[in-house]
Amino acid sequence: TMKVTVITISDRAARGIYEDLSGPAIEKILQDNLENIAVARIVVPDEKDEILKALRAAASSDFILTTGGTGLSARDITPEICREYCDRELPGIAEALRSESYKETPHALLSRGYAGMKDKTVIVNFPGSVKAVTLCTKILIPVMGHAIKMINNEGH
Ligand code: MTE
Repeated sequence: TMKVTVITISDRAARGIYEDLSGPAIEKILQDNLENIAVARIVVPDEKDEILKALRAAASSDFILTTGGTGLSARDITPEICREYCDRELPGIAEALRSESYKETPHALLSRGYAGMKDKTVIVNFPGSVKAVTLCTKILIPVMGHAIKMINNEGH
């Protein structure tokens, strides 16, 4: 079973000011496209300690997908926290998400999303909108199985 934890990082979603739609959207696309997958969801505000706590709580996951907090406002700290938490970078994932998203909207250039690994867990930042996570989840899905095999040294 592939274990995925989806972390929604949003002050407003965490306070209940609006409903988290992006976390459930990621979960649904994963469930609809992958077999043998277990998805957990966490919602936290844009606070360093809360984000780190959620990342650590999800440490046994194969993938941690975050949504939100990748933009330019002062509260957007997701990429910095994840970069600090990870021990290796996965630039190809972040590059592909941004370049494909750019075909959808020029605003994609304003997402600072990071992708990396902490031990055997792959961590990928998606932007906050449902539209963005719908595209980004679909881009990631085709490489998820192979990534796990490589991480477990099962070769090609
Ligand atoms: N990527 C895709 N595919 N589709 C989108 O609509 N929105 C952009 C961008 N990436 C978008 C996207 C916008 S408007 C912003 S501000 C940045 O992601 C950062 O979003 P965030 O602060 O919610 O993480």
